[in-house]
Parts: sequence; C-alpha cells; structure tokens
Amino acid sequence: MISTSIAATDTSDAAADATRRAVDLLQAGEVVALPTETVYGLGADAFNEAAVAKVFEVKERPTFDPLIVHIPSAEDLPRVANVPPEIEKDVYRAAQEFWPGPFTMVLPKNDAVPDLVTAGLPTVAVRVSGHPIMSRIVRTLGNPIAAPSANRFGRISPTSASAVMAELEGRIPLIVDGGACSAGLESTIIRIEASDKSKPIFHLLRSGPVTPEQLKKIGKLKKQKPTDRPGAEPGPQESPGQLASHYAPSTPLRLLSKPGEFEPEPNKSYALLSYRGEPKDGFLQLHEWAEVAVLTPGSGKQAEAAVRFFFVLRQLDECGVDEIIAEPISEVGLGVAMMDRLRRASVRD
Ligand code: TXA
Ligand code: MG
Repeated sequence: MISTSIAATDTSDAAADATRRAVDLLQAGEVVALPTETVYGLGADAFNEAAVAKVFEVKERPTFDPLIVHIPSAEDLPRVANVPPEIEKDVYRAAQEFWPGPFTMVLPKNDAVPDLVTAGLPTVAVRVSGHPIMSRIVRTLGNPIAAPSANRFGRISPTSASAVMAELEGRIPLIVDGGACSAGLESTIIRIEASDKSKPIFHLLRSGPVTPEQLKKIGKLKKQKPTDRPGAEPGPQESPGQLASHYAPSTPLRLLSKPGEFEPEPNKSYALLSYRGEPKDGFLQLHEWAEVAVLTPGSGKQAEAAVRFFFVLRQLDECGVDEIIAEPISEVGLGVAMMDRLRRASVRD
C-alpha cells in the first residue's frame, strides 16, 4: 500500500503545484490520476514502457486491452501516429472540429509508441483533451500520456477525484483534482476510412459525448456491429476492451424498455435509475423503490444526465439494493452513448 494524496487545482498556485507534482511523478515513471472532461484518466508517460506496464498492473487490466494516448494538440499527431495520406485531410478536419474535446481517433501507430500501449495492435487511439489541467500537464511533460479511465478493470469510470480515490486508493501516489468532469462519459472513438464520396467514412467504435448527429456533419457514419452482446455472432472486435460486461456496477442492473416489463420478486429490494423522475413516465409508481436516482433533476436535459450518469450509477451501486432497474433513454444525441453504457451494464456474463 502506498499513500494516495489528492492535489487541488482550484487556485492558480494550487494548479501550478499540482502540475509540477504530477509531471515530476510522470517523469519518474509513476502513474498519476488526471482529470479530463470525459472521465478521470490513469496517466503514464506513453513512451516509457515500464510506466505503461504499471497502468495495467494498477487497473488489473488485461494487456490485450489497448490504452488511449493523450497529446497536447493535433500538431503532435505525427509523434504517435503515421497519418495515411489518403485520409490526412479528413483526420485534420475532424481534429479541427472536435479537438480539444471528448473525441478519440484510431490511426496507424508510429514506432515510437510501445506495443504495450496498443496491446500489440498496429493502430493507436489518440486524443487531445480540452481539460485545462490535463492540457497543461501533457504540455509540460513534453511526452504523450497514455491514460485509460482511472477505474479498476470492468468497473464504473470515475468522474470525480473522490470516485478515483474509491477505485485506486493505496495503489497510486497522486490524484490531480480537476473538479467534476464536464462531459461525464468516455470519449467518442472513431476510425476514418477514405471514400471517393464527398465525406469520409467514420467507423464509430465507441459512442460518447460527440454525438452521431455531430459526426454526421463531416463524415458518413458506420456503426460497429456489436460482436459481444448476447445472441450476437462472434467475430473479431475492432475496438478491444469493449466487452459487453464493461461499465457494470457490482449490483445487477436491468434495463427496461417499458414499465410493464417489471415484475418484482418478493423479498428483493430494488432501486430505480430514472431519466426525468416524472410520474407520467410510468416507472416511479411501479413499485415502492428502496431508492430512486434521477439523472436530470434539473431542466431535463441530456447534458446534465451525461454529467451525472456514472456518479448516479456509483451511488445506486453503493445503496445496498438487490437490483438496479434502469429506465430507457431516448436514443438521440447523448442518449446514444448513455444507452450504450446501460446496455453494457445490464449484461451479466
Ligand atoms: O474518455 C476517454 O476516452 C477516457 C479518458 C481518460 O481519455 N479514456 C478511456 O480509456 O475511456 P479506456 O481505456 O477506458 O478505454 C479505451 C478504449 C479501449 O478499451 C478500446 O476499446 C479503445 O479505447 N481503443 C484503444 N486503442 C485502440 C485501438 N488501437 N483500436 C481500437 N480501439 C482502441
Ligand atoms: Mg474504461
């Protein structure tokens, strides 16, 4: 066990101090939890293989699951990726549109990136975060930072420093507290394919805060066939590490499509994960819920629901019920990414 401290960044002095401590540790080959606008990341110097190995060890993550590499800006892409000439224009267009931000592109990898980072794949997932503290730390370090979500393998992504503490206390020396994550869901991941049509093909490998509607403005969207869901045909997975059982709370979670599907078992306690918490939606009155958590207690907007999503899941997971029942969310905008996470969370294997 090592002692884990939290570095605040709420004043300019604190932010400067936290940056220095994080960069010193990263340069010494340590892993540090860092804030991004999506979820907190567990960062290591991407060019230091021993440090990257620690990320897998701390997360208890299998090494066939590749990591996302964070760079300061699109100009740094050539340091980690060999951008193919046939998609160069499209890659930089997407970068201009969505970076810095909750957006990741999978590109052919550069030799400088250790195979451990990409789990032996010939490609690397690259992101430019818009979080000011993450941005400052990756710039100051000078090397790219490999940073998967800062949770233990197969568990809920952390969206606050305290959630990281709950996941990794005693395993890492430092958590840089950049406040609650402003997007709240893991980044949208795409792979770009050249096309002779006016728009390139965007293969959607993971839905996230950059919505299908936004992507469609500059690309023709192709969704990856889910190969890992029950009943789905087995096949090669283009984006490994997206097992169906990912993002799961320890408490079983069931996603309903209609209120009528719920038949409580006697002697079992249930919590409801409700989108709006409106009686007219028909879920509230179904049962005497042991606990009800509402994703948008405010104005009923998707962005609020996304920000609160993992926080609320964590809360319900800790409230001691036998099962969490989730209402469906309409699959437009950010609803696509939230429903993806709920479907994965509801699968047991
Ligand atoms: O928002 C995010 O992306 C956060 C922040 C910290 O950057 N990171 C994150 O990392 O969600 P992680 O490790 O939980 O998920 C990364 C996923 C992998 O599981 C895999 O599905 C995909 O990104 N990935 C990484 N490298 C890939 C590659 N070369 N080809 C295809 N998919 C890849
Ligand atoms: Mg993750």
